[in-house]
Amino acid sequence: MSSPRPKIHVAGPILPAAEAVLREDFEIVDTPSGVDGILAMVTTPVDAAYLAAAGPQLRVVANCAVGVNNIDLAAARAVGVVVTNTPDVLTFATAELAVTLMLSLLRRVTEGDRQIRRREPWQFALGFMLGTSLKGRTVGIIGAGRIGLETARLVEAFGARAILSRRDERLDALLGAADVVSLHCPLTPETHHLMGAAALARMRRTAVLVNTARGPIVDEQALVHALRDGLIAGAALDVYEFEPEIADGLRDCENVVLSPHLGSATTATREAMCMMAVDSLKHVLLDGTLPPNVVA
Ligand code: DGY
Repeated sequence: MSSPRPKIHVAGPILPAAEAVLREDFEIVDTPSGVDGILAMVTTPVDAAYLAAAGPQLRVVANCAVGVNNIDLAAARAVGVVVTNTPDVLTFATAELAVTLMLSLLRRVTEGDRQIRRREPWQFALGFMLGTSLKGRTVGIIGAGRIGLETARLVEAFGARAILSRRDERLDALLGAADVVSLHCPLTPETHHLMGAAALARMRRTAVLVNTARGPIVDEQALVHALRDGLIAGAALDVYEFEPEIADGLRDCENVVLSPHLGSATTATREAMCMMAVDSLKHVLLDGTLPPNVVA
């Protein structure tokens, strides 16, 4: 008699190709209770209570994201649950989105788009809606990991100078020198509100802030004040402090570009992320091995 297939709970919709592969080896069930593995989303809070509700048979949580701030890693370690993430496959897509947001903001693309959609009259004029180029600007990259380094490579291809800082190391110098401050650090207790009122005030008044990392790295209330008071020149955000809520005031600022957590959102990247998460479940539950992308 063949042994029963391991039970998996998938915490949110995954791409069909990955689901088909998952169904070949696993039984997919609707709730986490009693399962062997969980395929978690970045929006799935996996804390001690969640792990306890899943039960002692749980062996692995495969997070379909590179960031693991939604998971209490210490709680997972305490109950012997392996946690994996999806590094590398989303590096380029996320760096590309950071540069897309920088360019949209500096060249006022979304601002112009809104003006046209409002049917406001306009016509070509030499002084109309002038922006700035990335070329010749200094881009301060906070978080010199894979995505930060890839963003540095891309902005340098546009003729910008990249300066990097790991967490708070050289942060003040970076904030004072950068025309664009781009966030690429993980969300941890140390980086929560890293960009609060004090850090925003250290930025140049002509500089802009770009966040494709995690929302709570920025104190959104302080950001709204900094934008209204002209302490910084603009912001482009892909992630939000209380996602999917957007802080009051951000929508009203013309010098703000907002995107809905699209960093890794290309078809190829999301497929690769899903397949990596599925592979991680197979490693642990079918082969009894640890994949290279274990984080706890
Ligand atoms: C991640 O991977 O951490 C992104 O935020 C979701 O793709």
